[in-house]
Amino acid sequence: MNPPAGQTVDYLRLSVTDRCNFRCVYCMPPEGVQSIPHEQVLSYEDMAFFVKAAVEVGISKVRITGGEPLVRKGLPSLVAMIRAIPEIHDISLTTNGVLLPRFAEELKTAGLNRVNISLDSLDPRRYRELTRGGLLSEAVAGVEAALRFGLCPVKLNVVMMPDLLPELPDFVAMTRELPLHVRFIEWMPVGGCGPRSTSDSLTKDQVMAALQKLGREGSGELMTDASPMGWGPARYYRFPGHAGTVGFIGSVSGHFCSECNRLRLTSDGRLKNCLFSSEEIDVKDAVQARDGQRVVDRIRESLERKSFDKDVETGRASRGMSQVGG
Ligand code: 5AD
Ligand code: SF4
Repeated sequence: MNPPAGQTVDYLRLSVTDRCNFRCVYCMPPEGVQSIPHEQVLSYEDMAFFVKAAVEVGISKVRITGGEPLVRKGLPSLVAMIRAIPEIHDISLTTNGVLLPRFAEELKTAGLNRVNISLDSLDPRRYRELTRGGLLSEAVAGVEAALRFGLCPVKLNVVMMPDLLPELPDFVAMTRELPLHVRFIEWMPVGGCGPRSTSDSLTKDQVMAALQKLGREGSGELMTDASPMGWGPARYYRFPGHAGTVGFIGSVSGHFCSECNRLRLTSDGRLKNCLFSSEEIDVKDAVQARDGQRVVDRIRESLERKSFDKDVETGRASRGMSQVGG
């Protein structure tokens, strides 16, 4: 199917590693997944060459993802290489945040604009269960570091797993003083992990109803808000007087293929035109030969094959989230 009229693919999700220091229950099995051998992973120079070539098809925004991108050594040097490409005006990073206290300043200096931090719970015990061992205090220190060094707007990704509802007051309280943008994400059936079916996780409507109830009980009526920078599939709302916002990514119920503006590159140099497609096009050889035209041709081929009507409920990806970068 062709893209809806006027739709351009301007956003690249660049996975720099499939490795991660966590094993989130919805993302990985407890034992983790087989990692891609180091020698098959693109170098930062390869990745920067790819981004330069991708500018030709209209890419102007890059999100660095993983696995956990900060477990790969020297990430600020990749940020600096991408920053040097004038057509790229937005560089963002998706991270679980625990390494941000160490790297936030260096990333900012290298030219990173902003971060999205995964923070599925504000309860230390539940956080540890969901991440299979993560320390909430370290992730919170990462959020603080992001704010301190101006990696803004700082967005928090919260997958709507069972038992989230009792935590909503804490998430709302956090947006009162701090300019944080909490995004509640519907769990997606990718990679065979997490709840057995989407009916076990919460939906946007359930969480929205709970937020509205909080509003009636004192936080004030939720107002629709303009999106914080970064075009994406989220919808945002604000409680009166709060510095931050809450929003939703309805990846299943409010299924957003028709708005999708993204292309993905895996850390081993394969193009994916959709998270729910197992189709991959290898660009590693073209990148390593520094053949820009061949890279562009492969990207065009991948985009031409992009389908805009995926069935998310039944879509089964060949690799899990940690391998394709969310
Ligand atoms: N469903 C929804 N969101 C997911 N993420 C990872 N796996 C899933 C899934 N199965 C989210 C994480 C992180 C981002 C990279 O993707 O919360 O914020
Ligand atoms: Fe790692 Fe992110 Fe997957 Fe959690 S969701 S295991 S932090 S890649």
